[in-house]
Amino acid sequence: MKKACFTVCVCFLQLLDLALGFSSCEHLDCSQFPPSFLFGTTTSSFQVEGAYLEGNKSLSNWDVFSHIPGKIKDGSNADVADNHYYLFKEDIESMQSLGVNSYRFSISWSRVLPKGRFGPVNLEGIDFYNKIIDALVLKGIQPFVTLNHNDIPQELEDRYGSWLSEQIRLDFGHYAEVCFKAFGNRVKHWVTINEPNMMVEYGYFNGGYPPGRCSYPSGNCTDGDSAVEPYLAAHNVILSHATATHIYKTKFQKKQGGVIGIVLAGYWFEPFSDTPADRLAVQRTLAFKTAWYLDPIIYGNYPPEMTQIVGERLPIFTPEDKKKLRAKLDFIGLNQYTALYAKDCMFSLCAPGTANGDIHAHLTGERDGIPIGDPTAVETFYVVPSGMERMVMYYKERYNNTPMFITENGYAQKSGSMGEVINDTNRIKYLQAYLASLIRALRNGADVRGYFIWSLLDNFEWLYGYSVRFGLYYVDFDTLQRTPKLSAEWYKEFLSKVKALQKKSRKPKMWYQAF
Ligand code: NOJ
Repeated sequence: MKKACFTVCVCFLQLLDLALGFSSCEHLDCSQFPPSFLFGTTTSSFQVEGAYLEGNKSLSNWDVFSHIPGKIKDGSNADVADNHYYLFKEDIESMQSLGVNSYRFSISWSRVLPKGRFGPVNLEGIDFYNKIIDALVLKGIQPFVTLNHNDIPQELEDRYGSWLSEQIRLDFGHYAEVCFKAFGNRVKHWVTINEPNMMVEYGYFNGGYPPGRCSYPSGNCTDGDSAVEPYLAAHNVILSHATATHIYKTKFQKKQGGVIGIVLAGYWFEPFSDTPADRLAVQRTLAFKTAWYLDPIIYGNYPPEMTQIVGERLPIFTPEDKKKLRAKLDFIGLNQYTALYAKDCMFSLCAPGTANGDIHAHLTGERDGIPIGDPTAVETFYVVPSGMERMVMYYKERYNNTPMFITENGYAQKSGSMGEVINDTNRIKYLQAYLASLIRALRNGADVRGYFIWSLLDNFEWLYGYSVRFGLYYVDFDTLQRTPKLSAEWYKEFLSKVKALQKKSRKPKMWYQAF
């Protein structure tokens, strides 16, 4: 049945190719991708693994949170998710069939250290990730590993309030060191933390994610202080990154020869109107969204756009912290999906609910009722391909062309019947347009070294549960059967064309071709 569907999909794709010109490299300047460029797919432990209490794993903060009635839109949880814990071999075979040369995934902290630094390393957890890494290496797929992708051991929340306490830096350093020791001989790309900017905003500003802390009017929580706690949590995130990176650079990097970076959610922003105030609102928003984390890591200080406004509520880096921060990073990971408008409300009244705290800007996807791009199944994810080029160029300019990876890019579909969902031509158009935008940035000299599609599989999409699908592979959540969507076929064809081009360009030239 699966095979038959695959054949039908392939034929359908070929027809579409002819009709719509999807045929990958004919419409994209694929020669911009050097042979060392990583092309991959990506997932995260909590969203795909399932087996939430197996193999001695402890409860994570997201296990606990997603079981609270009313928190997840469709009332679901990730107890089973894609059952990747048991089906990872099949999933790696799918990756091989796509032809990717890298797979970005995350390690579940509570699987490796169920009690953080207050208990032993869980060898079953180590064994599980060893199996994944070995299987990838065997297939020539480079593991690109994130240490923390939202889920942390609940133990650390209960003991000391996780990211609000300095103690998290010790725990994160310990966890990172355990992973470098266990896996660093095969893992050459490490990400410390995925999208801390989203985790902090949702966890401590509006309370949508665990630990669900905030204060009025930013959200409706029983505890928290939206004017103070996000800054504390972010400070501990930055110094946890610095602690892990310092450990990697001083104890492991020389021997293991890998690189380490951090991943930020990279929404692009356009001015709501062509006025100086709205253009400034864009600069402010970009600083508050991502430079908040990257400026301290790369330059040692919070961005001036923030210090002016937040003043004494911003924690201070001690001389000891600054020493650790010197470890910086080797690359910036950029998760780029979309763009929004920013409208200044510095001196006017910010409409309640739409203004973003100290940024003093309304962030909106619509202007005069017209969306900034085609809407998708995630409310704030509009299709705005130019945002990819602009965001990459912003990082290029602000951070002196530090190497970058597009660690996530992908299209959100509403869940529906398999028949509807696998004919995902909108996803193909989206990916093609975003890749074209990325190629423009490469041509403009941006040092981007890889591109990963979110996601390999439909999976547990945080507050949306299973109601939104990002996968190249459709997952039937009753049977857990995977079926390739049209986009999987498209990616496969695209990658084979890129490879063919790269091979051609590597062929030694004949003497007469030099003229
Ligand atoms: C970014 C996050 O890293 C990932 O966990 C999430 O599923 C995707 N964006 C889509 O929202």
